[in-house]
Amino acid sequence: MIKKCLFPAAGYGTRFLPATKAMPKEMLPVVNKPLIQYGVEEALDAGLSEISIVTGRGKRALEDHFDISYELENQIKGTDKEKYLVGIRRLLDQCSFSYTRQTEMKGLGHAILTGRSLIGDEPFAVVLADDLCVNLEGDGVLTQMVKLYNQYRCTIVAIQEVDPQETNKYGVIAGDLIGDDLYRVRNMVEKPAPEDAPSNLAIIGRYILTPDIFDLIKQTEPGKGGEIQITDALMKQAQNGCVIAYKFKGKRFDCGGAEGYIEATNFCFENFYKTGKAY
Ligand code: UTP
Repeated sequence: MIKKCLFPAAGYGTRFLPATKAMPKEMLPVVNKPLIQYGVEEALDAGLSEISIVTGRGKRALEDHFDISYELENQIKGTDKEKYLVGIRRLLDQCSFSYTRQTEMKGLGHAILTGRSLIGDEPFAVVLADDLCVNLEGDGVLTQMVKLYNQYRCTIVAIQEVDPQETNKYGVIAGDLIGDDLYRVRNMVEKPAPEDAPSNLAIIGRYILTPDIFDLIKQTEPGKGGEIQITDALMKQAQNGCVIAYKFKGKRFDCGGAEGYIEATNFCFENFYKTGKAY
């Protein structure tokens, strides 16, 4: 069974400057909740209660968010404002939180490798909290992926069809269709130009990884921009055995940039906040 979920959250968030100069991108609020809280809720709903977060300099707000604030709680005790903290209290009660720091921001692959000491030798999920994923129709995206892992017992990456002109923002896969919305990955390219992309099926910020990924990341040379890419390690994993790409059910908002962030805000305001499901 998968119990652990890793949140790489050490990046600089340059697309959202100056907001992210002193504040972690993962703490940006979508209506009334920080991005990372949506991610942890999705993980807990999938049965993953051991939360591991890779932080970096200037990210202390993340640890403070997943802790009790005695002064504040005392202040609002017995008032109707207590309802605002019901959701975060549920997470504190039902999850454990552990942290490690990435001291040099050498890319997502390197951030995942930094989390190795918290994960150990077991399969685990990875959530990039700036990709906000929701499914109003049923299971959350991680729940869908955990079910697939239990069936296939190999690495699962979430994919989405993107505008062919935008492949240069993503890891892009080529694969053989093996079931409804399921591909066995044959090839994977990091941020290809549209003319070089093997498809328009792009990897988004949800993964379930088997622990052999750590040694594969270690063997990976820095790629584009001097960063250690997870895509390169996943490609090796796909060649060795099995990586499955899953076109998930639901919506994904890229909250790492202004456009997706505004869309997510409008969506959450209409579907969660106005309907009283936002705490
Ligand atoms: P992104 O490339 O989206 O994040 O990395 P970024 O670097 O923070 O953002 P921009 O592009 O400069 O605006 C995807 C995820 O990987 C984490 C980020 O925090 C984000 O959740 N990450 C990235 C790390 O933890 N460490 C890194 O060295 C790089």
